[in-house]
Amino acid sequence: MNRLISSIAVCAIIACAFVPVRAADMAAAKQNYDTFCAKCHGPGGQGDGAAAATLATKPHNFTDCAATGKISDDTLFNVIKNGGASVNLSKDMQAWSTGFGDGEIHDLVAYVRAFCKK
Ligand code: HEC
Repeated sequence: MNRLISSIAVCAIIACAFVPVRAADMAAAKQNYDTFCAKCHGPGGQGDGAAAATLATKPHNFTDCAATGKISDDTLFNVIKNGGASVNLSKDMQAWSTGFGDGEIHDLVAYVRAFCKK
């Protein structure tokens, strides 16, 4: 019996190791995106938000899978956290590190990725 219990415990520990630390909170990301990002990037991620018309460099279309697929998660994360200028993109994309924690930024990366439906 003890053996059974300990093997169940071992399985539980192993299973835990493979569960992602934290699943993306897409509902919170959507709310943040709609509030802070959609005015430029557009509600559907197509770079057609109302404020985009005034930008010298338009945000690219996140639904363009070929283009978005070439950008790594790290780069997306970095642009959101440290701003466009940090990776030689437009400085109109501000740094959001004072507004969002890393977890929220990871969720925004997942949200932005989801615009490209393969
Ligand atoms: C004032 C308009 C504006 C707002 C608001 C804005 N962005 Fe941007 N964003 C831009 C521009 C402009 C670029 C860079 C386009 C370029 O230089 O190719 C950009 C680039 C990006 C990129 C990099 C994509 C790429 O082409 O490599 C990501 C990711 C991104 N924004 C996410 C967000 C998120 C998430 C928010 C909200 C928290 C947000 N943006 C808010 C204008 C904006």
